[in-house]
Amino acid sequence: MSKVTINIDGKEVQAESGQTVLDTALANGIYIPHLCHHPELKPRGVCRLCLMEMADGELITACRMPVIAGMVVKTKTKKVDKAIRPTVELLIAYHHDTCRGCPAIGKCELQTVMSHLKIDRKRVRRLRPPPAKKPLDKMNSSFDYDPNRCVLCGVCINTCEDIHGVSLLYYVGRGHETKVAFYGDEKKCESCLECLARCPVGGLMLKKPVEVRH
Ligand code: FES
Repeated sequence: MSKVTINIDGKEVQAESGQTVLDTALANGIYIPHLCHHPELKPRGVCRLCLMEMADGELITACRMPVIAGMVVKTKTKKVDKAIRPTVELLIAYHHDTCRGCPAIGKCELQTVMSHLKIDRKRVRRLRPPPAKKPLDKMNSSFDYDPNRCVLCGVCINTCEDIHGVSLLYYVGRGHETKVAFYGDEKKCESCLECLARCPVGGLMLKKPVEVRH
């Protein structure tokens, strides 16, 4: 594979041809917000947080854009901020009101995005009070799904498809009622837990062991 040089936010970096701009940026310590990206999955461009501004002013998702020798991109412009900030604020507004007890605590990608954009969660909550909490979904015998924490990035759905080659999970419902659920025969799920391992926000969690009283 040949090497190419590109410029991200004023920094010249080297990339393998065929690599995406997002992977190149992350490998070189340049953070670009992302939720639906995972290095082991095909890029789908679902969350649209990895936007970058091209030399001609066009906004393009960095996770789906392969590097081109000599390209110059900017990820911290006003235009990018204006495009992604409302999405993140909305996600926060509809997200669980507390991080306490979350399985993703300390590695939550939404928290990383939020602190990168310096978003004040309390201010967002004041502007838009969170809707009523939704009940935990007992997905199967191994894990549960928390619709209050899920950001609908599709990483679990795509893990099932890309890693296992089956499509057992999908989006169901509409609007604010959209959630992830088994689609088809859930008994085919082998509980490999690969989806849990990749969930960026703690939307999926292992079932708590049932307490047996003697
Ligand atoms: Fe690129 Fe989600 S990381 S669209």
